[in-house]
Amino acid sequence: MTGENKQQNSGLLGWALFVVGFAGALFVGWIVFPQLLYSTKYQPINYNHAIHQEEAGMSCEDCHFFREDGTYAGKPKLAACAECHSEPQGETEDEAKLVSEYVEPEKEIPWISYSRQPDNVFFSHAAHVKMAEMDCTDCHRDVEGQTKAPPVKINRLTGYPNEVMKMYVCEDCHAQENVSNACDVCHK
Ligand code: HEC
Ligand code: HEC
Ligand code: HEC
Ligand code: HEC
Ligand code: HEC
Repeated sequence: MTGENKQQNSGLLGWALFVVGFAGALFVGWIVFPQLLYSTKYQPINYNHAIHQEEAGMSCEDCHFFREDGTYAGKPKLAACAECHSEPQGETEDEAKLVSEYVEPEKEIPWISYSRQPDNVFFSHAAHVKMAEMDCTDCHRDVEGQTKAPPVKINRLTGYPNEVMKMYVCEDCHAQENVSNACDVCHK
């Protein structure tokens, strides 16, 4: 082997080590660390948004509506499901589970939230949906046509879901729309 060749080889080895080290750092930073930081939870039963729109002809407001005092109902209670599911509507496993584990024993379904905020944050759907006329998908995942509720990633350090809207996102839009960003607008 000539000296020139040797040099070339150690140059290549250096590159190879660099690439392996770099790939390793990416692997830890992008794949391992997020998996350590978030735990994955699954909904107790699959709620299929698409089938209720298409086969049961329901609209969003049948389940997610404003109460008379202007507060938002959020997720529907079991009673809303029992209206139809005290009689079987189909033959799927998820529906059988709904009936035997929740409707018959009259037990509320412990849905996991994708967007729960810390208790010290005040959020009003009326201000955004009614007054500012925003779409649900400006802040939430698009459920329309969705047959499977995705798993929920929970941040192990804070205990909050990772889809929760971050403070700077709220504040950026408020600044743009000339809405006050005084702390006590959002923190009560
Ligand atoms: C029959 C009742 C029902 C109808 C009708 C319905 N939903 Fe839902 N929705 C649910 C249930 C149950 C959940 C909780 C499970 C889940 O997140 O998939 C949910 C969850 C959601 C969430 C996620 C909330 C979170 O945790 O962040 C959004 C957003 C949503 N629905 C929007 C809509 C929209 C938009 C429509 C109309 C296209 C609609 N829903 C129609 C029952 C309903
Ligand atoms: C207006 C009547 C109606 C209401 C109210 C209703 N459903 Fe349904 N549901 C249906 C129909 C119709 C089907 C389709 C049955 C089939 O073809 O399998 C269905 C299907 C289902 C299935 C099986 C779908 C699948 O993909 O496995 C589940 C689970 C379910 N509903 C849960 C719920 C829950 C939870 C609620 C309350 C938040 C609810 N439903 C409210 C009519 C209704
Ligand atoms: C400006 C952003 C924004 C818009 C627009 C918005 N939401 Fe929300 N939504 C939120 C936030 C933030 C929360 C969590 C509130 C909390 O934890 O106090 C939430 C919570 C919810 C929940 C309850 C989730 C739970 O944890 O029980 C449902 C259901 C929901 N929204 C549905 C909708 C629907 C349907 C629309 C459209 C009509 C809509 N949202 C529009 C930001 C928004
Ligand atoms: C994309 C724009 C946008 C985002 C994102 C947004 N907001 Fe707003 N918010 C508005 C607008 C516009 C108004 C004023 C509505 C009105 O009264 O006409 C408002 C009003 C409010 C109000 C009522 C203020 C009052 O004095 O009545 C509160 C509270 C609030 N937002 C909290 C939040 C929180 C908390 C978040 C994040 C989780 C958030 N907002 C995200 C646009 C936004
Ligand atoms: C437009 C709404 C909004 C305004 C204005 C706002 N915050 Fe927040 N803040 C939030 C939301 C939403 C969260 C939770 C999400 C997050 O941690 O990013 C939060 C979280 C926080 C947290 C972390 C709390 C925890 O439990 O982890 C602190 C501390 C905080 N805010 C302080 C402030 C201070 C101080 C101000 C005034 C200078 C302020 N915020 C103004 C919306 C707001």
